[in-house]
Amino acid sequence: MSSVHWWQNAVVYQVYVRSFSDSDGDGVGDLEGVRSRLGYLELLGVDALWLTPFFTSPMADHGYDVADPRSVDPVFGDLRTFDALVTDAHEHGLRVMIDLVPNHTSTEHEWFRAALDSVPGSPERARYHFRRGRGEEGELPPNNWTSVFGGPAWTRALDLDAAGEWAPGGWYLHLLSPDQPDLNWTNPEVWADLEKTLRFWLDRGIDGFRVHMAHGMSKPDGLPDNRGGDEGGAVGLLAPIDGDPRFDHDGVHDVHRMIRAVLDHYPGRTAIGEITVGDDERFARYVRSDELHLGFNFRLLQAPFDAAAVREAIEHSLAAVKWAGAAPTWTLSNHDAPRPVSRYGGGALGRARARAMTLVELALPGAVCLYNGEELGLPDAELPDAELQDPIWELSGHAERGRDSCRVPMPWEGDAPGHGFTSGQPWLPMPPEYGELTVAGQLEDTTSTLSLIRRAVELRKTHPAFTGDGVEWFGAPSGCLAFRRAGSTLVCALNTSNNAVPLPPGDLLLASGPLNGNLLPPDTAAWLA
Ligand code: NOJ
Repeated sequence: MSSVHWWQNAVVYQVYVRSFSDSDGDGVGDLEGVRSRLGYLELLGVDALWLTPFFTSPMADHGYDVADPRSVDPVFGDLRTFDALVTDAHEHGLRVMIDLVPNHTSTEHEWFRAALDSVPGSPERARYHFRRGRGEEGELPPNNWTSVFGGPAWTRALDLDAAGEWAPGGWYLHLLSPDQPDLNWTNPEVWADLEKTLRFWLDRGIDGFRVHMAHGMSKPDGLPDNRGGDEGGAVGLLAPIDGDPRFDHDGVHDVHRMIRAVLDHYPGRTAIGEITVGDDERFARYVRSDELHLGFNFRLLQAPFDAAAVREAIEHSLAAVKWAGAAPTWTLSNHDAPRPVSRYGGGALGRARARAMTLVELALPGAVCLYNGEELGLPDAELPDAELQDPIWELSGHAERGRDSCRVPMPWEGDAPGHGFTSGQPWLPMPPEYGELTVAGQLEDTTSTLSLIRRAVELRKTHPAFTGDGVEWFGAPSGCLAFRRAGSTLVCALNTSNNAVPLPPGDLLLASGPLNGNLLPPDTAAWLA
């Protein structure tokens, strides 16, 4: 990491568009809603926003099932609103990143509809992975792969039989839900279409992409059975996928080289991959100098609130990019995982720990991604079964509740049921306790989580101690960690033990909770310089 590009130490704010701000009262957040809140994001001090998919979609996976990647779904607005949002965001000093979903389309994409209407072996089917099934009648899936959401990764389509009738025929591959057929990345049309999509949005002025499932796309020849520990492949979105033939196939790097080659024509634009590859060396391949600029890894998000586990997550994250010379990234929260406050124990304890971990994350070199509502210390919402909308709930046969609890809309102000998110009925019910965590309320309170994170982001941007690419560890009492940004004076200490411990030497810059004289209490982090 030598010369500094904006993304190398950016604070990126993830906007889950459905849940951020609703401008038209239909209960679903939209692009105009995001536009109306840009002042807030500027106040928060973030550098960029990442918008989750707003493209035309039947919403089987809330927009990650894209029917037309070069359009805006009417529920979110239109292209004109998108353009206005980009222009206004730039005026507020905010960059705009959008999701890119190259692994699959929706079953409603015109390509897939054409594929279903076509015969086996046709060019229409060759854009996807259609295969004859196993068994005498082809009645069994072509291999043993499972979908990440649960259930088999294959669904049977209808083919024209000898009598000219449509009857159960070949199978199509979907590593996610049956509504998300995987594209065939050996087909040049698929490449050309992604390139068109990249240019379409880059020409509209966006600053970068978050590349969804960047370890997907390429498949091994012959689609061999998964013979790893998890028969058929692990279920679970952020589960590491090492040795699993469904993912991280070497051919994927050519796709990233193509993406990078396009981006290189647009100076200052970036691509961040979503990469759930656990092996550090294999992870590093995605961020080589001719591939993606950055990679989200989920080690910190998956670490328990335990100093040794947090340190290990940090060390791996640093090691995984060092080899390729890329900047590290840090994530505690996103729309696919339980919110930190709940993960770390819930209530006041969970919130104290989440605040502490946010200081750890913001002290580290590299790019940080905050998920909307994280700055408010929102907990997961408890939702009744009848409200659950995530496809995981149905596809797992109600074994997994899915991710709706971390996707409940943002509370902006007031006590009314929509809490300023919507004048209508929010698409997921907002728990009454969100009324105590509104943006308006927390802006007034200097001890709130929002005030803490605002101050932390401000210090990170303006204080001279926030330099240096590496991390030097200090000896720390059991259950604690302390590190210094290499080449700078910034020290961050975290106490995950049950006892207060002495603070490291230095002038206090910020603490995640009240200190006890010169002692750092449990569940607290502090910055010193
Ligand atoms: C990762 C996305 O972040 C998630 O929300 C989505 O459901 C899956 N990929 C499948 O598309």
